[in-house]
Parts: sequence; C-alpha cells; structure tokens
Amino acid sequence: MKQTKTLFSGIKPTGIPHLGNYLGALKNWVELQTSYQGIYSVVDYHAITIAIEPKILKQNTIITAKILLALGINPDIATLFVQSQVPEHTELAWIFNCLVPVAEMERMTQYKDKAKTHKQNVNMGLFDYPALMAADILLYQAQAVPVGEDQLQHLELTRLIARKFNQRYGQFFIEPQALITPAKKIMSLQNPDKKMSKELGEANYISLLDEPNIVIKKVARAVTDMGPQENKMSPGVKNLFDLLDYLEQKETYQNLQKEYKQGKLKYSDLKTAVSDAINQTLKPIQNNYNNISDQAVKTILKIGAEKAREIASKNLIEIKKLVGFI
Ligand code: AMP
Ligand code: TRP
Repeated sequence: MKQTKTLFSGIKPTGIPHLGNYLGALKNWVELQTSYQGIYSVVDYHAITIAIEPKILKQNTIITAKILLALGINPDIATLFVQSQVPEHTELAWIFNCLVPVAEMERMTQYKDKAKTHKQNVNMGLFDYPALMAADILLYQAQAVPVGEDQLQHLELTRLIARKFNQRYGQFFIEPQALITPAKKIMSLQNPDKKMSKELGEANYISLLDEPNIVIKKVARAVTDMGPQENKMSPGVKNLFDLLDYLEQKETYQNLQKEYKQGKLKYSDLKTAVSDAINQTLKPIQNNYNNISDQAVKTILKIGAEKAREIASKNLIEIKKLVGFI
C-alpha cells in the first residue's frame, strides 16, 4: 500500500556509522519505512563542511549507503539517494538563506561546537548547514524526521523557516515533527559525559563493522567507576546499562540491575553482557554488508535520485512560483 505521510532523514558520509547512529536514528529509519513514505539521503553536501579528501568522500558515500541497505532499508518501498545528485536541495537552500535571520543561525550549538574544534576551517557552509538541512526536509514536505537528540535544535529552526516562508509567500510548507527513539543520546565509552561520536577517536565508539574481538576490547576498556554507588549511578555505568536496555536484553538488564542495587555487581560481568549483545546485533548487519556489491549500491542510488527528483522538482516549481520567479 502506498503510504500518504512522508518521512525524511539524512546521514553524513563521514565513515562507517556507529552504534549511536544506529540506536539513535537508523534503527528507527528501518522500522518507520513501512508506515511512512520514507525518503533517506546520504548528505554529502553537509559532509564537505568539514574538509574531506575527495577519494575518502567517495568511499564513505558508498559505505554509508551500503550500511543503510544492510540495516534493512528496502529500496523497493523507500527512496535512498545521495544529496548532491538532487540539485533542488541547494536551490531551495538559497531561498531559505534569504529568509533565515543570521541571529538564529548564530544560536546553533552544533555550529558553535564545530567552529571551536575546526578553528582552521570555519567556512560559510558550516554556518549555513541548518538552512540546507531545512531544505532537505521541506523539499519533500516531510511530516516526520527521525533523528537523535543532537538534531532537535536544527529541527526547530526548520519549523521556523517553514513558518517564515508561509507568512511571506503563502501557505506551502508543513511544519515537520522530530521522531526520537528512547536511545536519543548514546554516550562515548571513554568520555561518558559526551555523546558517542567518531570525532572523539576510535576507542570512544563502536563502529557497525567492528569485529567481535574489537567490540570486546572497546567495551572492556569503557570507563566505569570504583563499584556500585549508593545514590547515583555514574554516567559510564549508566551508559552500559542503557546499551543493554536498547539492545533489548531485558532479562539480563534486570538481573544485573538487581545485582547493582545489592552492591554485588562485577563490572566485568556487565561488560561481557554488553559486548555479547552488541556482537549479536552486529553479526547479521555485517553479513548483509558483505553480500552487497559497490555496483549494486550505485544502481540503487541512481534509481533513488531519480525518484527523489520527481518529487523535488515538482515542489520546487511551485515554490519558485510563490517566490515570484518568472
Ligand atoms: P550524523 O552521523 O551526525 O550524520 O548523524 C546521523 C544520525 O545519528 C542523526 O540523526 C544523529 O542525531 C544521530 N546520532 C549521532 N550520534 C548519536 C548518538 N551518540 N546518540 C544518538 N543518536 C546519534
Ligand atoms: N544534520 C544531520 C546530522 O548531523 C544530518 C542531516 C542533514 C539531516 N540533513 C538532514 C537529518 C535532514 C535529518 C533530516 O546528523
């Protein structure tokens, strides 16, 4: 059955996606593709806001799309495409640039963080990133956007841009809603007060293609504390328990929680349970990944871009009419 509600989401091709991406967003992409018309994009224009070698960008784009297919994105029911293959995204972003106040952009915490960590390359694209993200979503008139918690501020800005456009040019855009999973923010294994991210370095995250022995090693080295605490669980231990929970290990989770409360829990047991759960989850994903060829991915992406462009170009014609372009 053709779904009537549209869902859009994007992921940057910055390498192999990690467990935070999966539990916070990508798992939801797969689950929601049957109840929405799902449109999913590998957002390479967003990726070049941080300097990246052309060869690596190419590789990462294929890897990211292949991971999405391995996770279960089904190109027969959903649309999977690469952002730069649908030029309407950047065209609409320009129109939005002329609507969005600079002061709103200056509030964006992702921009402020990245401007600090990439001091030598604070480019206009990095600043303008949220206008392009708004264009990604609104171009398809998406009602729903599954993302992790870190993207909520960008979603709010997207809603503001939709309102501003509608006020100035007449009602056209729907204000999209964010869809958040319970795992909205998975923390780093080494710095459990920061979100899991590749920028922090290898030991901080589990890549979806990490081999079982690597997973065991990384989890074994995860930061914990001196032992079960009376009042509040430390962030590192909480993150490990959260992982068990999100990886749907209900019984183990409850048993280990009980031991924790009794002050008897050995963190090595918790860590073994977590790495077992991760490896169990990653195994079928990795098997699927190894069975998809680069050529098959390219073909799927080409068809996906054609499907996306059909919607995008139709909407952009309407938008340009409203703005007053002849
Ligand atoms: P990115 O790799 O930044 O393009 O992110 C892709 C998706 O994963 C976005 O929806 C993010 O919000 C989500 N995400 C990234 N890191 C995490 C994390 N540590 N926990 C939960 N979700 C995350
Ligand atoms: N900004 C998102 C991130 O960093 C990626 C993204 C780009 C996106 N365009 C989007 C997410 C549109 C959802 C919808 O993760």
